[in-house]
This record gives sequence, structure tokens and C-alpha cells, in this order.
Amino acid sequence: MSPTKAVPARDRLRIAIQKSGRLAEPARALLSACGLSWRESRDKLFCYGESLPVDLLLVRDDDIPGLIADGVCDFGIVGRNELEEQAAERQRNGVPEAYRAVRNLGFGGCRLMLAIPEDWEWRGAEQLQGLRIATSYPAILANWLDALGVDARVVELSGSVEIAPKLGTADLICDLVSSGATLAANSLKPVETLLQSEAVLAGSTRAPDDARAGLAAMLLRRLDGVMKLKDRKLLMFRAERRNVPELERLLPDADPLTHLPDGGDSIALQTMCHGAITWQRLEELERAGARELMVLAVERALA
Ligand code: PRP
Ligand code: ZN
Repeated sequence: MSPTKAVPARDRLRIAIQKSGRLAEPARALLSACGLSWRESRDKLFCYGESLPVDLLLVRDDDIPGLIADGVCDFGIVGRNELEEQAAERQRNGVPEAYRAVRNLGFGGCRLMLAIPEDWEWRGAEQLQGLRIATSYPAILANWLDALGVDARVVELSGSVEIAPKLGTADLICDLVSSGATLAANSLKPVETLLQSEAVLAGSTRAPDDARAGLAAMLLRRLDGVMKLKDRKLLMFRAERRNVPELERLLPDADPLTHLPDGGDSIALQTMCHGAITWQRLEELERAGARELMVLAVERALA
């Protein structure tokens, strides 16, 4: 019998992720890298955790903050934009905080921006007085306008926000910008950033005090290990001692070189690099005296 079977249902951890959309695949990949695996149900909305008692709920991203607030899920992977919007809405309605971003996950980067028709000249927020702004982020926008003391009308739309100025239902918009292609296609230009967003791991403000607590701590530790290894590569090479200072200068994004002395003038060296090691960089190191260069992927590490 697998050890996960013995754990009663209430002691299983539940993580909500986007069912489809930009964050869905990277979210699953990240959790897989943490050693989680699942059995999919027929409706494909619930995935039963097999390697650990950690189940997945596949939902719409806007449902994730609420599922955490209601205690249906312990964690969720969601854009900071969605989390902040619902938090701002709660705050505006006097509802207490229920969730927070526990970790930034380094993918799904985008910005919530104010964008105006291309042929307008941007002279600052005062210019917005009395205008209509279309957005799917009414609470964040209202907070931003309030903070600046600007009285504009917030027109809430659930999608296709960029088309609103053309349709005449708004004068400008406030929406997510990633590549900027959607804005350009609609003859709009970005002028102000209201929020810098990326995927986050969101969790409840009330941490569980049962068996889930240990599971949650383990998950976070593994997640930190995975995040730390992103872009990390172990670089190994040989070099003459006299070339070491120059080689170190060429590796500003690496840990201090570890010398593995084996006698003689040539020594073995290794270091953990924190950025990309391109062919060009290897050739540069070679010209500076490095030999037998080797780049190794780091699969797992616990700090
Ligand atoms: C998002 C966002 C913008 C677009 C920006 O929409 O609402 O419309 O992406 O991306 P770009 O700057 O790369 O063009 P998405 O496709 O996620 O659909 P949705 O708005 O219906 O959620
Ligand atoms: Zn969406």
C-alpha cells in the first residue's frame, strides 16, 4: 500500500492552479520539479497526488484567491495581478485580508498599465480627470486614482478591454501588457505602470496546524531549491595558476572559484554560475587560459 493512501482526506494539501491559460503549463512544470506527481480525474478538474498527499485543483485564475480565502485550497499559483485586484476589492469593501503572496515564481511576467490612444500626448495623471477608463482591474485602478486624487470613471469590462476606445465605450484603458502587441494592434500606447506582475505562490494568512503544516513546509523548501537552481550551472575547467585572476574577472556572476589542487602548475577549478553560460563565454574563458571546460546542469540541491 502506498503511504499516501493512509492519510485521511483532510490532511492532504490542495493547490489550485489555472486550468488553461498562460500560467497553466509552467505551474505544473514547477510543481513537478518539486517532486509532485498526480493521477488525473476523468473531469480533469482534480488531480490526485500520487508521490505525496498534495492534490491539484484545476480552475479559472480568478477563482484562485477565493478558493484560498474559503479554505478550499491551501495554496494557489496565480498572477500577482489577480491576487492584488481581489485583495484591493476586499480592502475597499472592508473585508479582512485572507491570502498573501508567499513566493514569487519568476514566470508569467507582465505589467498592469494605463494605455492611451497613440495620437494623444501624455501629460500626467491630472489629464485623466473626467475621462472613462476601461479595465478588468477596477479595484487596483480605483485605488491608484484615489491616491492621486483624480476623479475618472472606471468602466469595468471582463475582456477585450483594448477595443473599448475604438468602440467609444471608454477613452483609454488599463490592462495587462506583456509583449505590447495587443496595444499596438489597437493603436494604443502604454504610459503608466500600476503594477508589476508575475506568477506567485499564494497562501492563506492562516497557516494550517495539522498534518498539512509539515507538507507545506516541505513544499516551500523544495520550491526554494528549484527556484535557486534556475539558471544555475556548475562550470568545471583546468587552468594554470597564473591565469586564475583573469579567469575570475571573467566570471563576475559566479561563486568564488573552488580550487581542487592536484600538484603542478595546472589546477582543476569549479564554480556555480548564476547566469547563462553561452558558447561565447566559454570561448572567452578558453582564450584566458581555461582548458577542458565543462558545464553541468544542477538537478537538485537543498540549502
Ligand atoms: C492578456 C491581456 C492583454 C494581452 C497582453 O490577455 O489582457 O490583452 O494579454 O499581451 P501582449 O502585450 O503580449 O499583447 P490574454 O491573452 O491573457 O486574455 P484575457 O485578457 O482574456 O485573459
Ligand atoms: Zn484571465
